[in-house]
Amino acid sequence: MSETREHWSNSLGFVLATAGSAIGLGNIWKFPYIAGQNGGGAFVLIYLICIAIIGLPIMLCEITLGRRTQKSAVGAFRMLSPKRSHLANFIGFSMIFTAVALLVFKQYGWAVVMLMLGGMIIRFGWTSVGIIGVFTGIIILSYYSVVGGWTIGYIIKAFSGKLNYVTEQAAATQFNAFKFGLTRVIVLQIGFILLCALIIVRGVRNGIEKWSKILMPLLFVLLIILILRGLTLPGATKGVNFLLSPDLSSLTAESVLVALGHAFFTLSIGLGVIITYGSYISREQNIFKSALSIVVLDTLMAIMAGLAIFPAVFAMGFKESAGPGLVFNVLPAVFNSIPGNMGWLWAGLFFILLAIAALTSGISMLEVAVAFFVDELKWKRNKAVVLTTAITILLGVFSAISLSNWDKIEWMHQALVSAFNIKSASFFDVMDTLSSNWLLPLGGLSIALFVGWIWGIRKAIEEIRHGSHNFADVHLISLLAGLKDDPSHNNANYHVLTLASIWGIFIRFITPVAVMSAFLHEIGWMSFK
Ligand code: TRP
Repeated sequence: MSETREHWSNSLGFVLATAGSAIGLGNIWKFPYIAGQNGGGAFVLIYLICIAIIGLPIMLCEITLGRRTQKSAVGAFRMLSPKRSHLANFIGFSMIFTAVALLVFKQYGWAVVMLMLGGMIIRFGWTSVGIIGVFTGIIILSYYSVVGGWTIGYIIKAFSGKLNYVTEQAAATQFNAFKFGLTRVIVLQIGFILLCALIIVRGVRNGIEKWSKILMPLLFVLLIILILRGLTLPGATKGVNFLLSPDLSSLTAESVLVALGHAFFTLSIGLGVIITYGSYISREQNIFKSALSIVVLDTLMAIMAGLAIFPAVFAMGFKESAGPGLVFNVLPAVFNSIPGNMGWLWAGLFFILLAIAALTSGISMLEVAVAFFVDELKWKRNKAVVLTTAITILLGVFSAISLSNWDKIEWMHQALVSAFNIKSASFFDVMDTLSSNWLLPLGGLSIALFVGWIWGIRKAIEEIRHGSHNFADVHLISLLAGLKDDPSHNNANYHVLTLASIWGIFIRFITPVAVMSAFLHEIGWMSFK
């Protein structure tokens, strides 16, 4: 354990930084529009269930792995992995087998991906989970930063009075014109990545923690202001109902999968961000409580973002199912339709909010790769930041180009179409689908399997007990009954229904089965209909 490792100054620092990572474009941009497309309340309900049975348990795994090893993703797995793991070998060989099957179906691109992953797993065992995480962080940031750049552009537009249209039509036209201004989009994107880099380079306490402590409260205040504005409009209740009253008949198997994928994305789990942030916690903190606070904060912010957006959208008579453009093109029009001519202000505040959320998430993706170079290869932080920033920019530019002038990189388009059988999606979509639908759930599944079956729940719980004041050994039933402090209930000799044993059952069985069924459905081997 390195003596010089930087730590958060206290639990609040950790919780705010990690909530900063979790709360991002996923909550404020993506959640409202996928809720809008998937029928509102019922989708929200499924999403909440996914958060509880998959998100929270995996979040706790990642924090525990990080704090135990005091290492970032790759190092954590390397330290705790057994020399030889039959499960890892089995998974590795299954992937190679799958690759062969894919070849038969002429899915060459996917076959190569599977082959590489399988080979890596056989060679590096469980450590591959960390390695894949480092790549995934860069992949996500590469397209995330495009949207991050848009938010900065829209702040400028709002305050210079350029978002002054009132119809959806005009909004869409403007948004498209904006997207097609390629140079500007790329400059903004690079600006966004550089902002992340500037924060990261200052380190854990003076960079990530300091800025999270400033930006997160600001985010909260901005959101409250926007909610109050939205809720006080006549007709706002329709929006509230849309978001909060579930109509189960509108639910499809697809929406369940979308909800599951989003649960990973929104909590930043599955790629080692939380392992890395967890590695900066000292042993006196109650990680059970921290995990719960982070998950609750993230969920709360998503619901609040919905409450800031839908009441206004419904009150002003706009469509809720506008898709990815919902906040960029519909929202400014909605704000301008509000009487009082303050649309520029509401829009400006909203895009500041969005930019802040994106920034605190962006830095966390960069940190995974940076921490890898610092921990494993003993690089200086500055050098690591420069390299990862450069790689992200290089990869990210393709996403930016692909959203406007996809045909400018026709060779890449063609290559992707023939290799991955992706018809019309842009490079941006390919990166998004690859990471949110595949790499994150795969990472989350591996983390759960590793903690549940390889490292072991017993060792994990030993780690969680540090600083948690017996929280892990409290009986759920006694907790609910208000008997948490009754000494006879806290007998460590039997574990029935303690929080620890419930968590163990989730990690070993429920979470893996849930993620696995989603996968099987996705590749068409299982149907829920
Ligand atoms: N959770 C963030 C959001 O909701 C995005 C994010 C940050 C992320 N770090 C991540 C997603 C790591 C997956 C993995 O916008």
